[in-house]
Parts: sequence; C-alpha cells; structure tokens
Amino acid sequence: MIKEEIIQHINKLRKEKNAIILAHYYQEPEIQDIADFVGDSLALAQWAAKTTADIIVLCGVHFMGETAKILSPLKRVFVPDLAAGCSLADSCPADQFEEFINAHPDHTVISYVNTTAAVKALTDIVVTSTNARQVVESLPENEKIIFGPDKNLGDYINKLTGREMLLWDGVCHVHAQFSLDRIIALMKEYPDALMLAHPECPKYLLEIADHVGSTSSILKFATTSEKKQFIVATEAGILHQMQKENPDKLFIPAPPEDATCACNECFYMKMNTLEKLYLCLKNERPEILVDEETRVKAVKPIERMLEISARYGL
Ligand code: 13P
Ligand code: SF4
Repeated sequence: MIKEEIIQHINKLRKEKNAIILAHYYQEPEIQDIADFVGDSLALAQWAAKTTADIIVLCGVHFMGETAKILSPLKRVFVPDLAAGCSLADSCPADQFEEFINAHPDHTVISYVNTTAAVKALTDIVVTSTNARQVVESLPENEKIIFGPDKNLGDYINKLTGREMLLWDGVCHVHAQFSLDRIIALMKEYPDALMLAHPECPKYLLEIADHVGSTSSILKFATTSEKKQFIVATEAGILHQMQKENPDKLFIPAPPEDATCACNECFYMKMNTLEKLYLCLKNERPEILVDEETRVKAVKPIERMLEISARYGL
C-alpha cells in the first residue's frame, strides 16, 4: 500500500473507532504529522488522563502506553510495536529497585516516568524532565529522597535544588552516547549557534549547554529565541517540530560517538512506523494491559505528579 492509502485508512479507522493518536516528539515525522497531539512525556500523560476517546494509540514506547493505561483503565490502549522499550526503564528492574528502597527505608521515592508500571507501584511521586525540579522543590528541604533511574537527570536536579538525593545508576543509551569532541567541533564550526541539551545528557554536556530542558522546553526555547542556529543534544526526532515551527532557523543534531552517524536516534522510538500504526488501529493490537493490583498502586504517584504539575501551571 502506498503512503497516501495508509493515511486514508488511518483517518477512516480513527473516526469509526473514536480513537485518539498521541505521539512523542521522538517519533518518525510522518507519525508526528498524522497524530492528534504531539508532545513530551508529561503532555502525553496529561492527554491520556483527559481524553474522551474510546481508544488511545500511543506512538511512543512501552512505558508511555503503560502510563496511559494506568491513568485511563477503561480505555483500550495500543502501541504500534510492543517491542518499543526503553534502555532507561530496562536499567531499573523492579526487584532490584525494591531492594534499594528497602535499604533506605526513611526515604521518599521519586521515579522518572521512564520506568515500568511495577517500578511506579513502588514509588511515591513520578516525575518527567519537565516537572522534576518543581516536584523535588515541593518537598520539605530536609526530606530524604531516592531518585531513579536516570542518574544524569538526578544529578542535574541535585545541582539545581541543592538537595542530595540518592541516585539510581541508570542512563538512556541515546543521551549517554553524544560525543563531546564532535559537539565542540560543531560549536567551533557554528560559533553563533546555541547548544540545547536534554537533562538525560551527561554532566560534561550540560555544563557547556546554553539551555537545558525537556523536549518541550528545548522546542519552546528555540522558538522564542532571537538566535537562528542551534545544536540540539537530544533524540533527533525533535528536530521535525523545531523545523516546522521555525522554518527560518537552522537546527543541527548533536552527533553520537559513532563517527559514521550524523545524529543520535532511539531505535526503540523508531520501531513504530506509519504502517504499524495503521495495522494497530485495524487489528486493535498490540494492546497494553496492566494488572489491576499494580495499576492501583502505580496510579497514585502519577496522579501526585499531575497535581503538582497543575499547581505550577505545567
Ligand atoms: P521528555 O519528552 O519528557 O523530554 O523525555 C524524553 C525522553 O527520553 C522520552 O523517552
Ligand atoms: Fe528510553 Fe532514551 Fe529511548 Fe527515551 S530516548 S525512550 S529514555 S531509550
């Protein structure tokens, strides 16, 4: 089937089935373009919580589909490819995280949204990179905190807030493999360009960045800036919206260590294709299911995150 036919079928099915298509900024451009809504991890959770659709097709990775299902248990949630996982979520198995928590019983547990439902069920408050600072600052200054699984984000929030949260030793394989040398070479080649970095990047990159923020924050910064050139240190999918909203500006993807690649992509995010999205709507699978016992425990820390975010207007 040619692309135009697939798009026609998707449009017909989404209407017939009262389905909403939510896509993360790291998805392929053609998926972003057909989605009802494109956003960061927090915005996708907020949409999943408020939609009146019967079906949510979450074009992102598994934990995003799980978060949608946990928030909207009466809706059916599908992801185009069930194998679309996350190296960060994988770096934090629930049994090992539970041992870590048990070893520090007097600590409040904060988990990044990039975790499994089982890890969220062990958590007091979930965060995304958009609201991590505000969530941490909403807690008393002397509160002891465990933060997992992204050590780079945790370290960055410690620096911003002056806290000393205990950090789980996890990283995202995409953000951990940007090349400092190649980025510095780009900065010399484009001396007027600003460097924008996601807080999942290592400290040595955050220290040379002109702006550090979540995907939505990076997009907003570039759109409102008077500057015309930007080196972007996050997954390259975000460049699609950046370019769409700012056709007169130049966005340069920050390169990984691998000298044969010009940009850094998450192969999990890129597992979803337009054709898989069509098949998913047509066949109503693969479906995300979360057992009710886990869901009831996991929904509380996600709702706490949504409440705190609303308080801060996020
Ligand atoms: P945000 O969309 O919250 O910035 O997170 C980036 C990410 O790594 C999603 O997997
Ligand atoms: Fe996970 Fe990193 Fe891919 Fe985001 S970019 S889904 S954190 S592996």
